[in-house]
Amino acid sequence: MSDGYNVAVVGATGAVGGEMISLLEERKFPVRNLIPLASENSVGKDVMYLGEDLSAEVLTEDSFSDVDIALFSAGGDISKKYAPIAVKSGAVVIDNTSAFRMEEDIPLVVPEVNAAAISDFKDRRIIANPNCSTIQLVVVLDPLHRYAGIRRAVVSTYQSVSGAGLKAIEELSRQSVDLFSEGDCKIENFPHRIAFNCIPHIGTFNDDAYTDEEMKLILETKKILGDENIKITATAVRVPVFCGHSESVNLEFEDPIDPDKAREILMETAGVVVMDETNLCKYPMPIEAVGKDEVYVGRIRKDNTVENGLALWIVADNLRKGAALNAVQIAEILVKEYL
Ligand code: A2P
Repeated sequence: MSDGYNVAVVGATGAVGGEMISLLEERKFPVRNLIPLASENSVGKDVMYLGEDLSAEVLTEDSFSDVDIALFSAGGDISKKYAPIAVKSGAVVIDNTSAFRMEEDIPLVVPEVNAAAISDFKDRRIIANPNCSTIQLVVVLDPLHRYAGIRRAVVSTYQSVSGAGLKAIEELSRQSVDLFSEGDCKIENFPHRIAFNCIPHIGTFNDDAYTDEEMKLILETKKILGDENIKITATAVRVPVFCGHSESVNLEFEDPIDPDKAREILMETAGVVVMDETNLCKYPMPIEAVGKDEVYVGRIRKDNTVENGLALWIVADNLRKGAALNAVQIAEILVKEYL
C-alpha cells in the first residue's frame, strides 16, 4: 500500500501504547493515519505523533471502521472483546496481552526466533505478542537450543514496575518519596509495598502455587521455540526498578557447550548484545539496557551442578523489546511480506 496504513493503537495513553507510538515514529512505519484509542478517562488528552497533538479517542465498537492494523495494549479483557470486532472490520490485530497467546491457531511471534509463524495470521487475523519476560528469554535461548539442545531451564525474573503500567510507575515513585519524607505509604497496585522491597508474586496464584505470570513464561517459551520437551521452571519477582527486566537463567543441555562457545553463538545472534567482561565489571543492567532495542546477555559461566550446564544473566527494556518494539517489528514484517 503505497500511501501507508491506518494504524490504531488501543491503550495509546498507557506505558506500552505510548512506546508503540514513539516507535512507529522512530522507525518510520508507513502510517497514513494514526488513531490513538483509550478509555473515557482520557477524553481531552493528547498524544504526540510526528510533532502533532492527536486527541485520544474513546474506544468503541465503531473505532475500527477504516483501520488496517490495530495494536492492542489495554489489558486482556479489552483485547478479548474488541480484537474480534477489529478483525471483523477488516483490521489485522497485533495483541500485546495474554488474551490469545496460547490459542493453537494464533501465531505467537518474536521476529528474531520465529518470524515465519506470522504467515499463520491469515485465519484469525490476530498475531500475539509474547509476555515481556518471555521475549528477552527466547531471543537468547533459541540459538543455544539449536546448537546444544536445552533439556532444562531454571529462570528467575527481576521485573521492573513499568511492566504493570503507568500507575505502577507512579506508585514506586510516590512510595519512594513518601518513605524518605516519612509520609503515609499507600499501596494500590501491588500486594505489598514495592519501594525498597522485592515481591515474589506477579499476577495471580494458581492451585499449584505458581503464578499465571510464571506459567506465561514457561508455556510461551515452549510454543515459540516449538519444543514441548524442554523442562522449564520459573519464579517471577517484582523489583523496585522503573524500567528494564532482568533474568537469572540456569540451563542444562543435551550436548556439551562451554561459555566461550555460547558467547561466540550469541555474538552472532541478531538482536543480542553480549556484555560479559567481569574483570571490567561489565555485565548487563537495566540502567544501560533501557532505551535500547537489543537484549543484553552476560555473566555467562559454567553451571557445574549438571553435566552440560550454563548460567547466564539477561536484561532488556521491557517496554521496548519486551512489548512495543516486538509488536512494531511484527507489523513491519506484516506489511512487507503479507499485506
Ligand atoms: P486510559 O489512560 O484512558 O485509562 P497502562 O498499562 O500504562 O496502565 O495503560 C493502559 C492503557 O489501556 C491506557 O491507555 C488506558 O486508557 C487503556 N485502557 C484501559 N481500560 C480501557 C478501556 N476500558 N477502554 C479503552 N482503553 C482502556
